[in-house]
Amino acid sequence: MALLPILRYPDARLHTSAAPVAVVDDGIRQLVSDMAETMYEAPGIGLAATQVNVHQRVIVIDVSEDKSALLALINPEIIERDGEQTGEEGCLSVPGIYEKVTRAEHVRVRALNERGERFELDAHGLLAVCIQHEVDHLDGKVFVEYLSSLKVNLIKRKLAKKARITA
Ligand code: NI
Repeated sequence: MALLPILRYPDARLHTSAAPVAVVDDGIRQLVSDMAETMYEAPGIGLAATQVNVHQRVIVIDVSEDKSALLALINPEIIERDGEQTGEEGCLSVPGIYEKVTRAEHVRVRALNERGERFELDAHGLLAVCIQHEVDHLDGKVFVEYLSSLKVNLIKRKLAKKARITA
């Protein structure tokens, strides 16, 4: 197990579109395990491989209170979306920033699990938000890009200031 460094917005590498995983092998299982450890330690409820500078389509999520429901999605594809919900989102790559984003209330996602088996999952509420947020990362999109350019510029300035203080 290993903790992986998390890229911070506006790092250009966060805008990389991730490639599909060809084979779910021990390397991918190790990645899932390291990503889960990194997510729990942060702490966060979701992490995409893009955020740890690995550009393959892998995400981990755990929205449970007691961190007992790790979900690994490999090559996730959102095949249905409906309804609407608006909630505050944050991101481990955009520390300290929480902003309202409107997303689908329900998604159906198709993915491979850690054994390379295909499955489908219906998600609502927070889990649905998290899946949409993480799949966006795999497509090179960070949640702040849903906000106005004025707000994005404020966030960039805030993060740059913070980076100078903590560097
Ligand atoms: Ni994020």
